[in-house]
Amino acid sequence: MHDHVLIILAQMHRKTSSCSGETPSSPWLTIPLDDYEAHMALPAVGQAQMLAEQLAILIERHAPASVAVMGCAGGNGLERFESTCVRRVVAVDINPKYIAVSKIRYANRLANLDLRCADIESPGLQFEPVELIYAALILEYTNTVATLATLKRNLRPGGTLAAILQLAHPQQHAITPSDYRTLKALSSAFKLVVPADLSAQASAAGFEFVDSSAIDLPSGKRFQLQTFKLLGQ
Ligand SMILES: C[S@@+](CC[C@H](N)C(=O)[O-])C[C@H]1O[C@@H](n2cnc3c(N)ncnc32)[C@H](O)[C@@H]1O
Repeated sequence: MHDHVLIILAQMHRKTSSCSGETPSSPWLTIPLDDYEAHMALPAVGQAQMLAEQLAILIERHAPASVAVMGCAGGNGLERFESTCVRRVVAVDINPKYIAVSKIRYANRLANLDLRCADIESPGLQFEPVELIYAALILEYTNTVATLATLKRNLRPGGTLAAILQLAHPQQHAITPSDYRTLKALSSAFKLVVPADLSAQASAAGFEFVDSSAIDLPSGKRFQLQTFKLLGQ
């Protein structure tokens, strides 16, 4: 086959398998949602429930009218918005298949659910700014400076950024080995983000550190929840 035909086919494939503004090489585009969710629900991982629980606590504590969930995957935790004061939810993910499943699961359950397939690093990601942004276990896969710029652009001044970071563990793999081998593709993209580094970069971007707490799972994995306030009027 001629080279130009191959190029056109490759472009067509990219358009059908991804969304605008993404990092084309994101390994997340190769992970079936079933594999990801089954992995996260394993007792040895046990992170899905923790992430949903932390979102519920944040909703209760901050009583925001609008929230953005960055890296929403298949919508884990979105049910926690039901019967709350939250009137508008924006949920963003780079994987169009995850967004499609989130739509099937939640479009009828949540009024004003704005699902976006987008790269969180993209300057083109823009929506009406929200009062709370939840960025849980996504900074490990993205450029922090570019991500903070997007978070700042889409958060109201005085609004809260809540980030959950995975902490280093001397005896455990960053990505717990499991039967879901497709997740191995994430290893090359994963990097631990040190909470102090995130604080420093957030401060440089115009956020004020508010508080921080450790989250320990029975599996032994440790996480840090950090909240920041966006300075401004
Ligand atoms: C570890 S998961 C986050 C946890 C997820 N919210 C949950 O509760 O299971 C990371 C998510 O971020 C998404 N993601 C990774 N890089 C991204 C990017 N650059 N822009 C938007 N989403 C991204 C992935 O597709 C994945 O769904």
